[in-house]
Amino acid sequence: MNSLTDFLLNRSSEPRLQAPAPDQNVLNTALACAARAPDHALLRPWRYLIVEGEGLDALGELFARSCADEADNQKWEKLRKSPMRAPMVIVGIASPKVHPKVPEIEQVMSAAASMSFLALALQDAGFGVMWRTGDVAYSQSVAQGLGLAEGESITGFLYTGSIVSEKPRVPRPEVAEFVRRWPQ
Ligand SMILES: Cc1cc2nc3c(=O)[nH]c(=O)nc-3n(C[C@H](O)[C@H](O)[C@H](O)COP(=O)(O)O)c2cc1C
Repeated sequence: MNSLTDFLLNRSSEPRLQAPAPDQNVLNTALACAARAPDHALLRPWRYLIVEGEGLDALGELFARSCADEADNQKWEKLRKSPMRAPMVIVGIASPKVHPKVPEIEQVMSAAASMSFLALALQDAGFGVMWRTGDVAYSQSVAQGLGLAEGESITGFLYTGSIVSEKPRVPRPEVAEFVRRWPQ
């Protein structure tokens, strides 16, 4: 088994993260990997925002302000604190272009593939990552606060940092459960 296959078979998302976050060199390499995602017509339909330090407080404020029910103090506070679950949050943004042969959905899929490559590269460098979305990923006010343009969308928030403790193993499906030969 080659090292990439072995790595993929053993990778897990890690929710319990702490400082230090990846340094600029590690980040640059991982972002270069993100740019190697399959990309029909080379439209580069993705971009990223790196959020650290006080930026995490600002992101928490944005999350909290997106909360429809402002009377729910507990929910507000939970959203406000949620970016602090990691020392770095990388916002993945799908940025589709108008193209005669490449529909928007292909570009959003490419952005998701790019996010996966980014996550895997960060894990390969020894960091933990957790791809999260939730209502905040689809909130108009969060999108606005992060400066998304018309037509852009959030692919996810990649919580990134050093692993505090590995999560318990997640059961993985058997290949036969999700694959058939066609025609049978
Ligand atoms: C698009 C997308 C959005 C996700 N959003 C969340 C989320 O908001 N909260 C969460 O706990 N897990 C979320 N996940 C799942 C985790 O990132 C992770 O894949 C899951 O916990 C399974 O762990 P594993 O990657 O080790 O299999 C999301 C995954 C994807 C692909």
